[in-house]
Amino acid sequence: MKFPILASLAASASAGTILWDGRFNDLSSSTDLNNWSWGNQVGPYQYYIHGSSSVTAYVNLSPSYKNPADSGSKQGAKITLDSTAYWNGQNMRRTELIPQTTAAINKGKVFYHFSLMRSDTNPPAQTREHQIGFFESHFTELKAGWLSGAAGVSDPLLRWCISGQCDKWTTTWDAGVWHNVAYEIDFTANTVGFWHSTGGDDLVRVVAPQSASTSSNGADWHVGVLELPRSGYADSNEDYYWSGVYIESGSITTSVSGPGSPSGGGGGDSSSSSNTPKPSTSSVPTKTTLVTSTTTTQKPSTTTSTVATTTAGTGGCTAGKYAQCGGNGWTGCTVCAGGSTCKYSNDYYSQCL
Ligand SMILES: *[C@@H]1O[C@H](CO)[C@@H](O)[C@H](O)[C@H]1NC(C)=O
Repeated sequence: MKFPILASLAASASAGTILWDGRFNDLSSSTDLNNWSWGNQVGPYQYYIHGSSSVTAYVNLSPSYKNPADSGSKQGAKITLDSTAYWNGQNMRRTELIPQTTAAINKGKVFYHFSLMRSDTNPPAQTREHQIGFFESHFTELKAGWLSGAAGVSDPLLRWCISGQCDKWTTTWDAGVWHNVAYEIDFTANTVGFWHSTGGDDLVRVVAPQSASTSSNGADWHVGVLELPRSGYADSNEDYYWSGVYIESGSITTSVSGPGSPSGGGGGDSSSSSNTPKPSTSSVPTKTTLVTSTTTTQKPSTTTSTVATTTAGTGGCTAGKYAQCGGNGWTGCTVCAGGSTCKYSNDYYSQCL
């Protein structure tokens, strides 16, 4: 399927090819997310990991929710955990969107872009672990708050994690500061690097690619947050602001303004930054053989377990040595790579050792 995004790409000299565009430009309101269902897989996102209230309890869109430097986005998303944000009987709060695309976002070398901000209003608790922007196997993600199993009571840091190691890049997560992020994932070489900047600054590669058990079925990147429970700490309302969410191949776009523009660029409309996948210029197939209806993540209606595993039942995937392989809240692989076994550390963390 051909789709013209050349005009929008011309705006940024260093742009790669957008494989999937999750910048909320195609949504007029978060209620558009309700269009998506397992039987009607439309729009840029799958919407199914959330609590039982209406969508506006968990996801809201507004121009004021985006990084102001991001001119490629007309709006950002406020993703909320409230007292109802328990998905499907689980004991952890979570609000997550997942790319709805058949593009090859899980092949070759790709960049997963997003910008993230917190406010002083409804701040993420520093006393609980939050997994942010993660894959089912958790080979890379951000984390915020006290890490399960860590010493102490709270943790003010925002951390980038690779294979369960969360000390390669950290920053104090101050309110009102936009953190621009790109995961540089090479699914062929099995490496992940980390790009970062704040505000309107260009992205800089702050951690060179390192080996990881990169694995994704092309429909398991969680744009949102999963909070692990911790006894003795009450739920508080938490808001996470997201913008500039897209995945590209080729060379990285370092400008936070992102490729394209939601309304400019030679009279284009929002379709110029549509989620319609554009064929990659590499030899990577543009369609995966996987379909989201058989993604390893179970449909809500079929999961009744109250333990915090959304994917353990599907088995199949393998966690690398030193990677997390279990625990209350774990949604990733539970089988350990050869030479390692899954060792219990605490109720919330088991590791391949
Ligand atoms: C969702 O459905 C409504 C009503 O049919 C439609 O107006 C809107 O454009 C749809 N949104 C998307 C993103 O497809």
